[in-house]
Amino acid sequence: MQLKDRVAIVTGAGQGIGAAVAAAYAREGAKVAVIDLNLDAAQRVAADIVERGGDAIGVACDVSNREQVEAMAGEVEKRWGRIDILVNNAGITRTAMLNKMTGEQWQQVLNVHLNGAFNCLQAVVGGMIERRYGRILYVTSAAGVLGTIGQINYSAAKAGILGMTKSTAKELARYNITANAIAPGAATPMTETIRTDDRFKEKYLDRIPLGRWAEPEEITPVFVFFASDASSYVTGQVLAADGGMTIN
Ligand SMILES: NC(=O)c1ccc[n+]([C@@H]2O[C@H](COP(=O)([O-])OP(=O)(O)OC[C@H]3O[C@@H](n4cnc5c(N)ncnc54)[C@H](O)[C@@H]3O)[C@@H](O)[C@H]2O)c1
Repeated sequence: MQLKDRVAIVTGAGQGIGAAVAAAYAREGAKVAVIDLNLDAAQRVAADIVERGGDAIGVACDVSNREQVEAMAGEVEKRWGRIDILVNNAGITRTAMLNKMTGEQWQQVLNVHLNGAFNCLQAVVGGMIERRYGRILYVTSAAGVLGTIGQINYSAAKAGILGMTKSTAKELARYNITANAIAPGAATPMTETIRTDDRFKEKYLDRIPLGRWAEPEEITPVFVFFASDASSYVTGQVLAADGGMTIN
C-alpha cells in the first residue's frame, strides 16, 4: 500500500475524477476526506469506500468560502490528527464566448479554481510545515496551456494553477512538501457536451492521439504517484494524463 495511514483531503470528490481519486487513495491505505459542495454526493462516495473496507468521511464544503474551508480542515484534523495530502480538484466551467461572458461567469470560475485552491492550501499548510511533510496536488488542464474557445475564464484559471503549483513547490520545498499538477482528460459530467455534441466530438477526438477519452480510473495512478513517497524527489511538475492531447 503506497499511502498507508496517510490522511488525504480530496476536493470536488462527490463525482468524476475526484471520486475516483478518493477511492484509489483509500485502496492504497489512506484515510480520505471526501469534500464536495454536494453533501449527499460526498457521503455516498465516502460510504462506498467504507463499504469496501476503507476509511473515509464525506464533508460538505464550498472551497471558495474561506470560513467553510477552515472549518472543514479543522474537522479533518480533529478526526485523524493531521493532513498529509491535499488534492485541489474541485472545479466548474461557465462556458461563453468572450464577448458574451458575464462578469459573474468570469468570477465564478476564478473563485472556485484559484481562490478555492488557495483557501485549501492555506488551511492545511501550517500543519504540514510543522510536521515537515506534505503532498499538494493541483489539477490543471490542456485549456491552461493551449487555451480553449468559449472558456477564457477556465483557461485563465487553469494557467493560474500552473503558476500556483510552481510557487508552492519553490516555497515549500525546504519543509519536505512537494507540489505537482495533473492535467487530466477524462469522461466525466464536466466534459459531456464536447464528448456527445456532434459539433465538437469528432474535432476533439481528432486532437487526442490515443483516440478516446479516459475513464477517471485510468488517470488515478498519476494522483497516487504524486501523493506517495515514490515521488519524493519530484516537485513543481505538470503531468498530462490526456491521451497525448497536449503534444498535438
Ligand atoms: N474531465 C476532464 O476531462 C478534465 C480535463 C481537464 C481538467 N479537469 C479538471 O479536473 C477536475 C475534476 O473535473 P471532473 O471532470 O471530475 O468534474 P466534475 O464536474 O465531474 O466534478 C467536479 C466536482 O466538483 C464539485 N464542486 C464544484 N464546485 C465546488 C466548490 N465550490 N466546492 C467544492 N466542490 C465543488 C462538484 O460538485 C463536482 O462534484 C476539475 O478541476 C477540472 O477542471 C477535468
